[in-house]
Amino acid sequence: MTEPSDIKKGLAGVVVDYTAISKVNPETNSLLYRGYPVQELAASCSFEQVAYLLWNGELPSAPELEAFEQLERSQRALDPAVTRVIDELPLTAHPMDVVRTAVSVVGALDPEWEDASAAGTLAKSVALLAKIPAIVSYDQRRRRGQDVVEPDASLGYSANFLRMTFGEVPSDVVVKAFDVSMILYAEHSFNASTFTARVVTSTLSDLYSAVVAGIGALKGPLHGGANEAVMHIFDEIGSADAAEGWLEDALANKKKIMGFGHRVYKNGDSRVPTMKASLDTLIEEYDRPDLLALYDALNEAMQSRKAIQPNLDYPSGPAYHLMGFDTELFTPLFVASRITGWTAHIREQLASNALIRPLSEYNGPDERHVQA
Ligand code: ACO
Repeated sequence: MTEPSDIKKGLAGVVVDYTAISKVNPETNSLLYRGYPVQELAASCSFEQVAYLLWNGELPSAPELEAFEQLERSQRALDPAVTRVIDELPLTAHPMDVVRTAVSVVGALDPEWEDASAAGTLAKSVALLAKIPAIVSYDQRRRRGQDVVEPDASLGYSANFLRMTFGEVPSDVVVKAFDVSMILYAEHSFNASTFTARVVTSTLSDLYSAVVAGIGALKGPLHGGANEAVMHIFDEIGSADAAEGWLEDALANKKKIMGFGHRVYKNGDSRVPTMKASLDTLIEEYDRPDLLALYDALNEAMQSRKAIQPNLDYPSGPAYHLMGFDTELFTPLFVASRITGWTAHIREQLASNALIRPLSEYNGPDERHVQA
């Protein structure tokens, strides 16, 4: 009989494999993508450069970046079969269900879905990077009863994404804040959705199946769904002066406060200061000191009551709200970014695969027999 102490509930603290893609270090509160601190990447690189880095291990040279950008820009359009399926889905469907379904359709339309070669999986990864913004913005606009905005190949990833969603390219401040959020969400080692994608890949299933499974895992409020949940909390609280009372009630009712806490970081999420700085630029751009006051009030109340630090979803939720996205679209934005990390891990898993199959300790009834 396995001792209860040998059971690693939630796989907490279990190291299951090597990865060369990112390093999360809770002691130094740092996050490296392929060796580069994520803060430096956010300050100096575009999301396209970071995607290239995650997949290829090195930042692109100028000609490599140009070729990569052209490839991404050439694949942004959606097959009419994808938009037809989206159109069939009711508006009661959560946008995460829409993006999960649409990615599944993209996979079903790919005649080379089985190609697990390094070149094949890279090509599929770039195609998904290019198409997910079109899926997300298509869904956002149909929910608002607006016409579709076709992709613009003269624009970079983030400017194009925002234009497809809102009909025009916003200010440089907004484009940069969005791009930073994409960089910060891109990769985070063996988080739940990435691990899910690796488990599916380990059975030698195809890349699209692994990504669809990853989207399912990300949807949950303990993972990616938290950025949406943070905004619902802000809406519920309403203003800074109500934050402390709201928190007392929530904690008294044993509620988890979304946007706070992390399985790996216990002294603060390394990505928060960078995203908070971007949120500050948006607060100024949209002149919303009230939102900043609410953000600070809830955080301060949480620190004095529980001393649990905010995670990336805490600043990104209000940031996406200020940019103009509907709250239900926040987690699909996380998908648009994390597709890079998921597919980097799928490719790494394929390169050195072992079926992922842990054990369990049975604690059900003793053996018994069906009575004749
Ligand atoms: N609100 C209230 N209490 C919390 C919170 C929270 N957000 N997070 C942790 N705690 C408490 C737990 O209740 C527990 O208290 P106890 O020991 O008295 O029972 C203690 O802190 C330890 O928490 P665990 O849940 O055991 O920590 P775990 O590592 O399993 O959880 C998790 C991490 C799931 C992220 C948790 O902090 C949480 O639910 N946070 C809210 C959801 C969220 O924001 N998720 C986003 C994650 S980051 C991302 O996906 C970008």
